[in-house]
Amino acid sequence: MNNHIKHKIMVLSGKGGVGKSTVSVNLATALAEEGFKVGLIDIDIHGPNVAKMLGIGDKKLEATPKETILPIKVFPNLSAVSIANLVDLSQPVIWRGPLKQKMIEQFVKDVEWGDLDYLIVDSPPGTGDEPLSALQIIGDMDGAIIVTTPQGVSTMDAMRSAVFVQKLNSQVLGIVENMSYFVCPNCGQRVYLFGEGGGESLAKELDTDLITRIPQNPELMRLSEDGKPASLYMRGTEMEAVFKELAGYVIKKLKNEKEEDKPNE
Ligand SMILES: Nc1ncnc2c1ncn2[C@@H]1O[C@H](COP(=O)(O)OP(=O)(O)OP(=O)(O)O)[C@@H](O)[C@H]1O
Ligand SMILES: [Mg+2]
Repeated sequence: MNNHIKHKIMVLSGKGGVGKSTVSVNLATALAEEGFKVGLIDIDIHGPNVAKMLGIGDKKLEATPKETILPIKVFPNLSAVSIANLVDLSQPVIWRGPLKQKMIEQFVKDVEWGDLDYLIVDSPPGTGDEPLSALQIIGDMDGAIIVTTPQGVSTMDAMRSAVFVQKLNSQVLGIVENMSYFVCPNCGQRVYLFGEGGGESLAKELDTDLITRIPQNPELMRLSEDGKPASLYMRGTEMEAVFKELAGYVIKKLKNEKEEDKPNE
């Protein structure tokens, strides 16, 4: 197998449901839109959502004669793998650590990714088996994007995820604050449903950047349910802009030398 992957990024959070999968999917599609070749691994074995959010929930992973795995092509330069493309989703996956580790190892080592500019890894919440295995197996991860909502119960848990990343000799690339505010459809006023400033103070504490703030928008959620990433299906809106901002940040942050960061041919 001949994989050449330039950059590997993990998306993490302390608390569940804050938008990791949303950020992973839209970062991946926004980077693919820029012409980069992108792979997305869903290592959330007990709650895999990436396949549904990308509209590939009904596709099944196929093995090659060499017993490697073909990732599912979402569009020409975006591929993804998730346990959702392997098992019956109406049944829980009841696995202990070693089996989960084996699965993650296969998703990293046995998938025919080919040449990728970016590999994005979507994690379950917290600092358990799955992100630990992924960080250890991938080894040369460029770093992690930490997703949080603005309130203290989320930023406090996000801080632990950041320390986890640093303890494993990787770096925090920046913070994404999700569900930052809701724009009232009647008067256009911003309503801060979960408070204000949590992402910014977390970024300050960690001496990193608050990359972007994603508003709360029911349209993003509805589109997600239908497998339509907001970065592609909410053109000309603030939503498209925040995901472009996120992709632009990642490209710039990981650009070491100009030559290195041209899209793979
Ligand atoms: N900015 C937003 N506006 C509206 N809905 C959102 C927003 N961000 C996420 N959601 C919705 O909130 C739910 C949780 O988001 P998501 O699945 O991305 O979180 P997660 O952190 O990956 O969750 P888990 O911890 O279970 O993996 C989803 O239904 C998603 O569509
Ligand atoms: Mg998720």
